[in-house]
Amino acid sequence: MSRPVPRAATAPIGVFDSGMGGLSVAQEIRAYLPHERIVYLADTKHVPYGCRSDDEIRMLTAQAVNWLYAQGCKLVVVACNTASAFSLTPLREYYGEALPIVGLVPAVKPAVLATQSKKVGVLATTGTLRGTLLQDVIREVALPAQVEVITAVSPKLVPFVEAGEQNSSACRAELLQVLTPLAQAGVDQLVLGCTHYPFLAESIRTLFADQFCLVDSGLAVAKQTGRLLEQHQLRSWSHLLADQPSLQCFVTGDVVQAQPVMASLVKGVFDLHQTDEASAD
Ligand code: DGL
Repeated sequence: MSRPVPRAATAPIGVFDSGMGGLSVAQEIRAYLPHERIVYLADTKHVPYGCRSDDEIRMLTAQAVNWLYAQGCKLVVVACNTASAFSLTPLREYYGEALPIVGLVPAVKPAVLATQSKKVGVLATTGTLRGTLLQDVIREVALPAQVEVITAVSPKLVPFVEAGEQNSSACRAELLQVLTPLAQAGVDQLVLGCTHYPFLAESIRTLFADQFCLVDSGLAVAKQTGRLLEQHQLRSWSHLLADQPSLQCFVTGDVVQAQPVMASLVKGVFDLHQTDEASAD
């Protein structure tokens, strides 16, 4: 394989997640950097990643980032806490300066700064809880501030969002079960440590009213993306052409199944394709 080369500033930003969750981040990027085009890749064929092995997560993430680079992306956001936990170092080593890569880690830092009860909850996947990125931030930020971090996990939540059932009674019953211990422990800041979970915010607020302040990484990631683009002189200031949607989405799985779910999660226009169509071009 030939050495990766940097792209032009007019190229799109690539955003990747195991499924639909990273759309919560893509939308923050779109709002914060409205002149940029975004190519979003959802690996719906392999979602969820949360219960996969470290090696599987690493391999699937590398495939996805390589695909986005092959589409001509100038920067890639790994909009998945689970994928970031295992893949950032090898990918950055491989691409170096040719492709800046933004990763995600649950937003423990702002939650630690904001907590009054000194108890912060982190709702994340098994993979993210096992990964070192979260452990590092807990050790470096929460422990010195004497803030207790209480984690919660459920393998059922990502599939609810993937099915467009984030406001269903079954999903709310699961959230009630998973988050009640955190509420009882006095958690006042709940970190949504998976990019699917901002789509659960309405259900969480319905169940727990003002018990938790919900904290996610979306806006911080959009700002970091802007900073990295500036640093690499990759910022695009050109206005979008009218016939060019600013959000182009691709799924590795079934496009017919993905369409209505994506339409319910995305604000504004987007177009949707299957990855094989793009590779065939
Ligand atoms: N959105 C991914 C994350 O942030 C979901 C993980 C999964 O596929 O289980 O971790």
